[in-house]
Amino acid sequence: MMQEKKKASIAVIGAGPSGLIASRILSNLPGFEHEVFERCSSVGGQWVYTDRTGIGEDGYPVHSAAYANLLSNGTRRLMEFPDFKFPDGTPTFPSRAQIHKYLESYADHYHLRDRIHLKHIVTSVKRIDGGDAHRPRWLLTIKNTTTGAERTGEFDAVFVCTGHYSTPYIPTIASIENFRGVVLHSHDYRHPEPYAGKSVTILGGGPSAFDLALDLGRHASNVIVSVGQADRLKLQEQYAAGKLPPNIIVVKWPEVIGENAIRFADRDSADDVDAIIYCTGYRHSYPFLDESCGITIKGGKRVRPLFKHMINTKYQTMMFINAMVNVFDFTLAYAQVPFAVKILDGSLQLPSEEAMNADTEDEYERRLAAGKTLYHAHRWDDATTFSSEHYYTDLIAYAGLDHMLVGESQVKILEARVVDNIYTYRDEVNI
Ligand SMILES: Cc1cc2nc3c(=O)[nH]c(=O)nc-3n(C[C@H](O)[C@H](O)[C@H](O)COP(=O)(O)OP(=O)(O)OC[C@H]3O[C@@H](n4cnc5c(N)ncnc54)[C@H](O)[C@@H]3O)c2cc1C
Ligand SMILES: NC(=O)c1ccc[n+]([C@@H]2O[C@H](COP(=O)([O-])OP(=O)(O)OC[C@H]3O[C@@H](n4cnc5c(N)ncnc54)[C@H](OP(=O)(O)O)[C@@H]3O)[C@@H](O)[C@H]2O)c1
Repeated sequence: MMQEKKKASIAVIGAGPSGLIASRILSNLPGFEHEVFERCSSVGGQWVYTDRTGIGEDGYPVHSAAYANLLSNGTRRLMEFPDFKFPDGTPTFPSRAQIHKYLESYADHYHLRDRIHLKHIVTSVKRIDGGDAHRPRWLLTIKNTTTGAERTGEFDAVFVCTGHYSTPYIPTIASIENFRGVVLHSHDYRHPEPYAGKSVTILGGGPSAFDLALDLGRHASNVIVSVGQADRLKLQEQYAAGKLPPNIIVVKWPEVIGENAIRFADRDSADDVDAIIYCTGYRHSYPFLDESCGITIKGGKRVRPLFKHMINTKYQTMMFINAMVNVFDFTLAYAQVPFAVKILDGSLQLPSEEAMNADTEDEYERRLAAGKTLYHAHRWDDATTFSSEHYYTDLIAYAGLDHMLVGESQVKILEARVVDNIYTYRDEVNI
């Protein structure tokens, strides 16, 4: 009698969009079996809203940064999964609740729930020695956050799908310790109403900065957006052209901060500031990875050693799905997971560890040469070489996929509208 080939067991950590996609793709593959561990009580990751900030009900830091009035900043067509459409009537820029519902429906439609352990946090991942040095097995410790019970499990491979917008990045800002008002990070922002009639200064010039400015602007007396050097969204230009609401002011980075006053680098200053909100982004953080995983994170911003921003080059049975920044994460996972599967089932041979590391270093050096910093190590940017188009083309060629997943021309149209008028683009774009 023919012996049945043993299935490869995969642990998927996280049931946000990436973990759900991994589960959906793995479910269709006879050579694999998998379990998904999700610490929250619901699938959907960042799209699972909670009023709580700080420590969550399960005793661990709250995962989601979603705020009450959050709308997507990508259109539903650019975000939706290739095999699951948003329901008819969904607006071009869906709300957080509509996206959460969409993700819940996806889990139901593809019968993923049987494999998902909700309220189960992975507290440790350790390498198991023996066998192929480059393709180790993994020992996971998983805690049931309802009962406190812990169990361990051995797996042939690990997909890290835990997101990277949960651990705030807070740059050093001279003299901020003088400030006597409220200070928080955008991760802990939920509602604008408590800021009614107040003066709020926002630090940062990314999507959180401007979305919070708009949300707050409907209640606060004024919102000052203090942007750094890069000003990717061209907020200073849009402000100078009079395109923003009158109570939103855009200035340069702070130079001196007093008890309630701030002087900015362009010599503008603000008195009577009630609150400062850091919208300065996030750190990559994987506290559950034991040293034996061989992963280091420089400055919270550069995860190494990763090939194509996803494969642990030393231990190639560990994959990071969606570790990139500034992407359409939903569709990226649809390219990364098949790539990962091909490596695991042996249908794709990776280059040597040395060649992969050299490729990664070469890309990083090119980023530095183009004026980027450590901060932008995993970021898709507008620079031609680091665009999503470049990455997709490369990945799709590697994975042998026969389709592009994101409409690049539509992404470009959307980006152009955002930098032209961030205040009105959601009313004008319909792609
Ligand atoms: C405020 C905000 C707005 C955004 N808006 C958009 C947008 O409009 N469009 C867009 O495309 N993207 C947007 N994003 C990016 C967003 O992160 C992605 O849409 C998407 O949620 C990424 O999916 P993910 O599964 O990779 O990560 P996440 O959604 O972060 O999911 C990770 C999951 O892993 C779980 N987890 C973490 N650690 C553990 C552990 N140790 N054990 C078990 N489970 C664990 C978490 O609970 C979570 O459910 C936004 C992000 C933020 C912060
Ligand atoms: N749906 C929505 O509307 C929405 C809302 C919020 C967030 N998001 C998503 O959430 C993710 C995170 O966005 P984010 O805005 O929180 O983070 P982000 O994109 O990393 O932006 C952080 C901002 O802080 C600036 N910054 C950080 N450190 C600085 C320093 N030392 N000096 C000067 N400037 C500094 C950055 O400048 P540089 O530009 O120079 O790097 C950037 O402008 C993104 O994927 C975003 O799309 C979406």
